[in-house]
Amino acid sequence: MASADAPRPPWQGRRIVLGVTGGIAAYKSVTLARRLTRLGAEVDVVLSRSSREFVTPLTFEAVTGRPVLTDLFSVDGAARHIRLGREADVVCIAPATADFIARAAQGRANELLTTTLLVTRTPVLLCPAMNDRMWAHPQVQANAGHCRERLGYHQLGPVAGPLAVGEGDGPGRMVEPEVIVEHLGRLLGGGGILEGRTVLVTSGPTREPLDPVRYLGNRSSGRMGFALAAAAWRRGAHVTVVTGPSALPRPEGVEVVPVETAREMDAAVRDRVGEADVIVYAAAVADFRPVRAEERKRKRSRDGEGWAVELTANPDIASGTKEHRKPGSVTVGFALESEDLLSNAADKRERKGFDLVVANPAGEPDAGFEAETNRVTLLGSGKPEELPLLPKEAVAEMVLDRVEALLRGRV
Ligand code: C5P
Repeated sequence: MASADAPRPPWQGRRIVLGVTGGIAAYKSVTLARRLTRLGAEVDVVLSRSSREFVTPLTFEAVTGRPVLTDLFSVDGAARHIRLGREADVVCIAPATADFIARAAQGRANELLTTTLLVTRTPVLLCPAMNDRMWAHPQVQANAGHCRERLGYHQLGPVAGPLAVGEGDGPGRMVEPEVIVEHLGRLLGGGGILEGRTVLVTSGPTREPLDPVRYLGNRSSGRMGFALAAAAWRRGAHVTVVTGPSALPRPEGVEVVPVETAREMDAAVRDRVGEADVIVYAAAVADFRPVRAEERKRKRSRDGEGWAVELTANPDIASGTKEHRKPGSVTVGFALESEDLLSNAADKRERKGFDLVVANPAGEPDAGFEAETNRVTLLGSGKPEELPLLPKEAVAEMVLDRVEALLRGRV
């Protein structure tokens, strides 16, 4: 079964040095190493001396399937930090303790991890974690500032939240592994034509109220739209997702505009569509809404009388915003079809002004609404391209590859 953390870009086949230093958050780095490995990265874990009070090399070797490095002064140690630093695509230090940040700021070479930092020319991501009072200390702030401003290291967190010991009023807690995974994805995934571009995505279902507690909706989870938004952000874009109600976690780094009804979604898209270089209409917009939403909850009548609801058509957001799109922008739409998949999708492409249509048959097991996977055919100006059953996250990557090719053709 295809799964969301199966190997995929931008992590797949990339070399990540994960430095772990001595704080209690080190236990979360095991999850981080595991997720990155499952996404297809080759993760070389380097443990500082003090981190080994919290976690063992064996733990990381078990989750990464690679030897863990601890020692500068072993037989091949001297060459090792040079090799690690040179071969890495990105270096991440999680957790980064106050002591480690101080040593990194000074350019020390007293153990394998600091030495690796001196060698590497790749992006470095620091994820500090410590007691909130320690983080607030002016010298710690100065050291972290030096790492950001003078050395160009990226810094993620710390965030406020429960700490191992005591109060924790201010930030001190390490960001969660899933968030670090996404930021590493952005450091690995940028540099292409989407870098710095503006991407607008519609996502999820819409809800059309019948009364204050009931609505007409559909089974869309929002997973495909969020996957597209997240993938575009990892490629360096500024991303806005206009989304109907979704229970899924919001994609990292993306501006989220929550809406309920099709008309709200339409207004939010109209406000933004003129700025977008890429527009992806991935929302499952309700085609109809009740003519009238009752002001009070409609009660069940004693004699069992029914409730006839009259529906009216909602605006078609994709067609209605066609004229407002920025010249040269690339537009993607979706088509869920129960019959004549390709001819209906081609018709939709023409009518709604899409460059690319992501078409999938309705009613397939493991595909479409509520599923984690999808089986789609990509329909552009050329021959339709049928993709195998894939996690929606992998479909998103393939769609964006096509979008990038279209954008390159327009510059
Ligand atoms: O006509 P159909 O609903 O199959 O079209 C699907 C495509 O049109 C999707 O890209 C969907 O997001 C978009 N759409 C829309 N507004 C609607 C209905 C569909 O933007 N009211």
